[in-house]
Amino acid sequence: MSERIPDETVDDIRQKTDIVDVISDYVQLKKQGRNYFGLCPFHGENSPSFSVSPDKQIFHCFGCGAGGNVYSFLMDHDGVTFKEAVSILGSKVGVEIDPASADEDNKQGENAKNQYQDQIEAHELLAKFYHHLLMNTNEGQEALEYMIGRGFTEEQLKTFRVGWSLPSWDFTSELLKKRGFDPASMEQAGLIIKRDNGSYFDRFRGRIMFPVENDRGQVVAFSGRLIQATKEEPKYLNSPETPLFQKNKILFNYHRARGAIRREQSVVLYEGFADVISTNEQAAHGIATMGTSLSAQHIGMIKRLTNKVIICYDGDQAGVEAAYKAAKEITSSGLTVKVAMLPNNMDPDDYVQKHNAESFRKEIIDSSVSEMAFKMRYHRMGKNLTTEDGRISYIQAVLKEISALQGAVEKELYLKQLSDEFDLSLNALTQQLQSISPKQKQTDIKTNQPENKPADQPIGVFHRKSTLRPAYLTAERHLIAHMMANDETAYTVQTLLNGEVLNKDEHQAIYTYLLAFYEGGNHSDAGAFVQILPDRHLRAIATEINMMDINPDVGRDELNDYVAEVLKYQKVLKIKEKQLEEKEAERQHDFIKAAQIGMEIIQLRKALKR
Ligand code: CTP
Ligand code: MN
Repeated sequence: MSERIPDETVDDIRQKTDIVDVISDYVQLKKQGRNYFGLCPFHGENSPSFSVSPDKQIFHCFGCGAGGNVYSFLMDHDGVTFKEAVSILGSKVGVEIDPASADEDNKQGENAKNQYQDQIEAHELLAKFYHHLLMNTNEGQEALEYMIGRGFTEEQLKTFRVGWSLPSWDFTSELLKKRGFDPASMEQAGLIIKRDNGSYFDRFRGRIMFPVENDRGQVVAFSGRLIQATKEEPKYLNSPETPLFQKNKILFNYHRARGAIRREQSVVLYEGFADVISTNEQAAHGIATMGTSLSAQHIGMIKRLTNKVIICYDGDQAGVEAAYKAAKEITSSGLTVKVAMLPNNMDPDDYVQKHNAESFRKEIIDSSVSEMAFKMRYHRMGKNLTTEDGRISYIQAVLKEISALQGAVEKELYLKQLSDEFDLSLNALTQQLQSISPKQKQTDIKTNQPENKPADQPIGVFHRKSTLRPAYLTAERHLIAHMMANDETAYTVQTLLNGEVLNKDEHQAIYTYLLAFYEGGNHSDAGAFVQILPDRHLRAIATEINMMDINPDVGRDELNDYVAEVLKYQKVLKIKEKQLEEKEAERQHDFIKAAQIGMEIIQLRKALKR
């Protein structure tokens, strides 16, 4: 699609840059020992837990787990892309990124690039044209009146460059032709459509035009709304999927909302872009998908800017269902979810028009509820709580949700709420909960480890309970720290582990990336290494481990002890698994099998002591 910056240039710029200088522009840093400390810009705090290492050229926050090299800092802080970060720093140290430094060496690459550029230009041109037609011409008057009548302000129409496409078959295709755009390319961009006879006609005719921008603010698609919906044609018509516009990678208003998202430390996610526009005066941190469900890429884009998502979907049944689904996906990516709910089947835009933007902000956004509170309301839907059946099925559904919660305090809180609500004893509910939980626990043995939580947890609730860390995890961290400090050690550890994997998935991932990094001909270099880690969680863990104080002259014995600790835990897990099998066999009255498993357990225990 677009050119790649050569690795050497990326490294060159990184090496010429001092991370302390760069971060000093954003954070007041004070030197303390070998490192610098300051207040973390990624989460609110009063005592400095954000540290920058000039030796390693990385940063890490002990409070929230943010971390990475100088590029990741800019990406996370300013929400820029990797390429933008490289180019920003490049211009500071006098290395200009040559736009022609494409890795496509042939003409084809060049052509594709030109075509891409052309298609964007065409969109930009049309956005301007349509906007002019809406705001300033007789042809656009009816549409403008409709928009103003609906409650959109001129300011909003200008900000979002809303426009009007003429109800003509060839206005747009003629305009593009006159401006020298290649019709085939314009067809590929979804702006015009080819007839059987080879001529072209306009895709958007007589519609209110909403430009859709990419993460750089360039118009890459349109959505056109009919003033009056008819049976024959859809209310909204969107550009098709094109090289420019992939719905699973585009979030409406993402570019414009960046600053607000960072200030508000949260993003509001809507179903419709009309909602984004009409709420933007009081809540500028709004974005929307383009008529699709939320994709993993969308969540990735959000993650670059914030760890808190306020879902504000329509108040109807479909909206609530969609919110439930989206909430699940977002939380499982490690972000925090709140849900802003609308009354009486309204959508956010309806609410703003009926009341006003201030009231929307206060009553809806700022009154959003926790995911669990939302789920409780969700499970009420369609159930008649005045009947016993209805109550039981509701309580069951909620208990199931509660059993999936991680924190004991949280669990208790919601149990208490249920018990108050239905006048049930807390004891009975707790017992009922336990009857749901065991299954879950079996499969979650690994992920239920306290150590596994912090990395998954959003920034801001990261715990720093190093003293509570089980020995095998401490051992894994030491192994990785030594491997990062020295490539020879890395290979030694690889030999000692002899194909066994680390217990914590993230540790294993870092381990694998690290070996690949060295095998690619690199030497120990923390700043370069964290750059190849594909996501923020891994970077956070890697940088945190990197900040550990370790013995620089580690011997093979010490490494061996760590490895032994890692392997021991795997044996413990194996024993636990066998114990469950033994119980199951007993339950099925298969006492021979149970006895066999019992023997295996004894053997495993012996092996553990050795
Ligand atoms: N949508 C679409 N095609 C349609 C209808 C809807 O792509 N035929 C998408 C659009 O992205 C729209 C979103 O679904 O923004 C939400 O649709 P809907 O709730 O019907 O629209 P509203 O946001 O309420 O728009 P309006 O108030 O103008 O009717
Ligand atoms: Mn609406």
